[in-house]
Amino acid sequence: MIEPTIDQGAAWQALADHAEGMRATHLSELFAGESGRHGAFTRQAAGLTLDLSKQRWDAETLTKLLDLAREAKVPEAIRALLEGERVNRSEDRPALHTALRLPPEASLVVEGEDLVPSVHATLERMETMVERFHAGQWRGATGKAIRDVVNLGVGGSDLGPLMVTHALADYRPRGVHAVDVHFASTMDGSQLADYLARLNPETTLFVLSSKSFTTIDTLSNARTARDWLMARLMGEGREEGVDAELVMHQHFIGISASPEKMNEWGIAEAHQLEFWEWVGGRYSLWGGIGLPIALAVGMAQFRELLAGAHALDTHFREAPLEDNLPVLLALAGIWNVNFLDVRAHSILPYDGRLEYFAAYLEQLEMESNGKSVTHDGQAVGYSTCPVLWGQLGPNAQHAFYQLLHQGTQAVECDFIAPLVRYEDVEDPATRDHLMGQHRLTLANCFAQSRALMLGDEAIEEDGPRPVHKRYRGNQPSSTLLLERLTPATLGALIALYEHKVFVQATIWDINPFDQWGVELGKQIAGETQRILEHHADVATMDDSTRGLIEAAWAAERG
Ligand code: F6P
Repeated sequence: MIEPTIDQGAAWQALADHAEGMRATHLSELFAGESGRHGAFTRQAAGLTLDLSKQRWDAETLTKLLDLAREAKVPEAIRALLEGERVNRSEDRPALHTALRLPPEASLVVEGEDLVPSVHATLERMETMVERFHAGQWRGATGKAIRDVVNLGVGGSDLGPLMVTHALADYRPRGVHAVDVHFASTMDGSQLADYLARLNPETTLFVLSSKSFTTIDTLSNARTARDWLMARLMGEGREEGVDAELVMHQHFIGISASPEKMNEWGIAEAHQLEFWEWVGGRYSLWGGIGLPIALAVGMAQFRELLAGAHALDTHFREAPLEDNLPVLLALAGIWNVNFLDVRAHSILPYDGRLEYFAAYLEQLEMESNGKSVTHDGQAVGYSTCPVLWGQLGPNAQHAFYQLLHQGTQAVECDFIAPLVRYEDVEDPATRDHLMGQHRLTLANCFAQSRALMLGDEAIEEDGPRPVHKRYRGNQPSSTLLLERLTPATLGALIALYEHKVFVQATIWDINPFDQWGVELGKQIAGETQRILEHHADVATMDDSTRGLIEAAWAAERG
């Protein structure tokens, strides 16, 4: 029997009816009609404050959305996720990124095995590695201490560590042997080539981060890196006693769910870190894949990041739906996408340290929920993940905010900012300037969400404005405030979005933990590469692709 889909249920229908009236209501009317909206729609947890008052909803909307969440069995789904049920149904396994941030005294028995001891054993191995680097004891093949670590990975094996390393740069440990951490992901080798041109092979180590250890982007960068090391460290005129085995041993660490493939590639067993099949790539920064983070900020701060995420996990499990931050953030998104027709979502951090946060969320949200088939294989009859993109808010003000204010698209925005910054800068004059810049940034953050909400009404004016200067407002937004940007609040922020994605997937009845949609492109790329490289029979290609391949051949001939 075919199960009715969520849009056929009573809660969805009630929301659809209710939306008729709400669509015609401007945000400014909602504010005019209800004092205390900020208090009524603001919730706090784990160092985060979420203000949802600038969403185009009222108390009745929220009640109906909470009914929808209950009808979609969100509370049961949260329990199933956190207890390790096989929620990733197409791949028949649990999705246990939350296990990676359980404290050592916890226990999580899944299918007969307590996962916590092995999670912490890996953290301890990471710690030993990090300590060796920071003590200047991890030496390259010629005996010099490693100074530069380049992470080679892509997608979840790059974006999470890159984003966090950048966000927590202020937390670099002092008084230890300095190690600079770099990231190269692009398959064209351009990022890697840049590092190879300026780094010293004697003091450079590569971390090969790949859950599958089959990703061509990462493996092609890894081959280039290996050949660069071999060419520079061995051979004529080079140091005695440096051989390929020593180079492999001292200059590579591997993080993968496939120890066999790491062994085949030549990574020493002692320099491999485990990646469990039950952790999805885009949810993996909390374990071995986080090694670059730990190298950059130290293991104590990495553990703080885990603790912050765990605090949010606890809130997610225990808070009632109406106070549950991930649930509320998810419901705001559902309301926009499915009932108000707002199908674009912009992520706008007002803090330069969060430069890569939007890129990270693009993968987390769109690779997770860019799906159109339910768990039992029915095509969905409603929209799922919106198009999500973003940039640092202050810079985006000078780039795409024009569209937010006067374009034809309805866009939901997430404004993200820390409340306190720079209070620990030592020089008082610089501190005053920087704190002033921080207040300027906060003012812009608050002003933009207000302008997007109210439009022209945000400013009192004498006569009417000419049409080209008008702002219609009514763009919904959420504002997320962090007391400070610390490892703990960052951990909570990331976990908040992970769980938001899960709640939305639960309501849409899709699997957020697989990514079959990326496979077709990989397969076709393999065939195209064979033709391109070997000048094979191009006639099997469509006319456009044939033309493009021939253009590449012609350019190579010169
Ligand atoms: O191709 C998509 C993807 O599988 C992502 O889900 C993943 O984060 C990325 O590629 C990298 O995969 P891996 O860690 O296996 O190299």
